[in-house]
Amino acid sequence: MATASAVKDFADIDFDRLSYSISTERYWSQDYADREREAVWMKVWQIAGRADELPQSGDWKEYRVYDQSFIIARGQDGVLRGFVNACRHRGNALCSGKGHAARFTCPYHLWTFGTDGRLLAVARPDLVGPIDKAAHGLIEVPVDTFAGWIFINPDRNAKPLAECLGAEVAERLDAYRLGEMVPVGMDVQEELDCNWKVVIDAFSEGYHIIGVHPELLAVMDLEPGRSRHGFFGDHGMAVSPFEVKRTHETGLEAQVEGIRSLPQTFPTVAEVLPLFETMIAGYRDAAGQLVLPEGVTVRTIMQAATRQTLTAKGLDVSALADDQMSDSQGWFLFPNLFMTIRAGEATTIMAFPHPSGDPNKCVWRCTAFMWLPEPLRAQYRAELVEVKERGSYPYFLALQQDYDQMQRQQQGLRNRTMTHISIIREETSVARFHSVVDRYMNAQGGQ
Ligand code: FES
Ligand SMILES: [Fe+2]
Repeated sequence: MATASAVKDFADIDFDRLSYSISTERYWSQDYADREREAVWMKVWQIAGRADELPQSGDWKEYRVYDQSFIIARGQDGVLRGFVNACRHRGNALCSGKGHAARFTCPYHLWTFGTDGRLLAVARPDLVGPIDKAAHGLIEVPVDTFAGWIFINPDRNAKPLAECLGAEVAERLDAYRLGEMVPVGMDVQEELDCNWKVVIDAFSEGYHIIGVHPELLAVMDLEPGRSRHGFFGDHGMAVSPFEVKRTHETGLEAQVEGIRSLPQTFPTVAEVLPLFETMIAGYRDAAGQLVLPEGVTVRTIMQAATRQTLTAKGLDVSALADDQMSDSQGWFLFPNLFMTIRAGEATTIMAFPHPSGDPNKCVWRCTAFMWLPEPLRAQYRAELVEVKERGSYPYFLALQQDYDQMQRQQQGLRNRTMTHISIIREETSVARFHSVVDRYMNAQGGQ
């Protein structure tokens, strides 16, 4: 295991290191957005899809950020590479969408490029004259993979992905076997009327549960001081015990009922319930009273049922602790991935700047991932739904609540005399996120 030094109890966080007053222009100013585009989005490793979208040599897809377009292609050697989507002759865009090809042929004057980017041939060489083919391959940009995701960096001089993620992030997330998970049940993308950072903020704190998701109070413990926070470079993790509220005040039967209600919010808990019920039944006395021996709680029973259920499915959970059977860790990978992850499942929220560059809009993508045995993955894999008619997609309750809230927040943030927002301690992950944004913004022009 990695050292636990980067993970702190709430009480041990040095709050004074961060700014808890955040300027609002970063959410609506076109000038700020233009600078942010260059200082953040043109510099940073970002997720461009899943590696299993491009399983075969010759599979390719386009990735766009703002008006920048890249091709990600799996070469004949099986390696994923990224290229600027522009023909090296006179710059024509080579492709859009996704597909499969042995080579890329530019429709303008028919130059052809290999899936490794090399210029293979020019049409009518007699008209072209001398040309150095080696100097006219597609412009390559860094592409790498981690945890099943394809990452791309528009900056040709970027540091390697592994260095930007850090060893501890890799080690901790590898244990979940995310690369073997597939979208199941939900993979949806929609334009929102808010800045992309409003989305990241909303998923970086649990404080808003009291206002926006009151029904989650039954299963989430918001007692101060019980959360733990991991600080890993630009990235972070927070976890609160996933447990029926105030277990010391509620009876055992109420806790069991709480677990039974979990699938409404966490659908995959449903597959654990049969074994959980069997285990609970084993602890009832002749009168039907639930009697738990020392050291056994409803929480530990749920954890044991989860471990056994997942192991029986074929998922190796040996690298995960008991807490990870029950508690969702909330991960943030800078700049735009938020993920709750628990043994066997993850839900990701990504927010992208709007292609138009309008800071009052963004695109979010919400995906539910589940670990499935290999033979079942293709069968259960969810197709991406791109929502065209605003508000027509039936998000599950908590996401719908966030969807409405975030767009309301943007309306308030746009008021010019509201120059700053105030972050509270429980929202320390929000403050951290903005401190990283500030660092990128301040580095602009200095590199
Ligand atoms: S622009 Fe592509 S071949 Fe001329
Ligand atoms: Fe929320």
